[in-house]
Amino acid sequence: MSAHSPRVFSGVQPTGNLHLGNYLGAIRNFVRLQEEYDCLYCVVDLHAVTIWQEPAELRAATLEVASAFIAAGIDPEKQIIFNQSQVSAHAELAWIFNCVARLGWLNRMTQFKDKAGKNREKASVGLYAYPNLMAADILAYRATHVPIGEDQTQHLELARDIAQKFNNDFNAPDFFPLPEPLLQAEGARIMSLKDGSKKMSKSDPSDLARINLSDDADLIARKVRKARTDPEPLPGDPAGLAERPEARNLVGIYAALGDSSMERVLSEFGGRNFADFKSALTELCVEKLGPMGAEMKRLTADPGYVEDVLARGADRARAIAAPVMAEVYQTMGIVHR
Ligand code: TYM
Repeated sequence: MSAHSPRVFSGVQPTGNLHLGNYLGAIRNFVRLQEEYDCLYCVVDLHAVTIWQEPAELRAATLEVASAFIAAGIDPEKQIIFNQSQVSAHAELAWIFNCVARLGWLNRMTQFKDKAGKNREKASVGLYAYPNLMAADILAYRATHVPIGEDQTQHLELARDIAQKFNNDFNAPDFFPLPEPLLQAEGARIMSLKDGSKKMSKSDPSDLARINLSDDADLIARKVRKARTDPEPLPGDPAGLAERPEARNLVGIYAALGDSSMERVLSEFGGRNFADFKSALTELCVEKLGPMGAEMKRLTADPGYVEDVLARGADRARAIAAPVMAEVYQTMGIVHR
């Protein structure tokens, strides 16, 4: 049993094009968890700038992610919604963790390899150290549970390794909790609509590869219609999707959006063709995403309100992180008053 009281932390980067994968893999779960936990939901702007961002776009994207949190149903009065850079504990603890994490651990991070690509020498130092900042985000609040999509599980394991090493290095058992990932059964890994072997991503050059939370009904319909499939009708059970990644992805999206399972979806649609299934999928997407998109638009038109939510959230977040940082410094022998 952990000595730490349960607390949820998660973050989303403000890098434009929030999409269905972000929603089904993470944000939707944020909304559910608020019934059971104290939660902090963070727009991680310091993570975004590990790759150069156009300042006006960064600002707009920060407000857009915060608006998405609120539009999805997170209550900013009950839970804490804020942007990372307004709470200096994140950057401070990240530096400490730069000194705890080992180069060998970071060298194994597949996301760095993907994002840096062939030109690794030209990647920013921040992009490399990014997972240490992510560990700091979580542990500055001693968060115990972290809702994420599958692509972030390796980073979360690193956060656990960092927590464990800090606790050992300073002979402070249980100083930091070992945070647990919370993954969705359906939705933890939504793939590109154009290629079932690639995850749906903000940075895909083709907008047709993803459904953005800001897309209107016509655009959603067009993207679903153009989504890649295969010529076979849908199988009667999930085993029949094994070698059909695009079909599997669309059935998974339908199951996740409808709070159902692939079994149940296929018991309804097994034997039917994609034209039928795609029109049902379009309808479900529009029904679930439409109202949220409209609310996001309404909120982004009122940046004063959203900025206010972020500032008040940051005040509350600071109040939790400050005593943790004081204990970190004291434990390490760093004079800090
Ligand atoms: P980011 O901004 O890339 O994505 C935000 C969340 O969306 C999930 N996600 C997906 N889930 C399912 N299918 C997909 N195709 C898909 N694409 C993205 C991500 O797993 C994530 O949960 N490093 C993080 C942000 C972060 C963070 C943190 C998360 C920074 N500090 C602390 C948790 C705790 C990231 O880049 O997420």
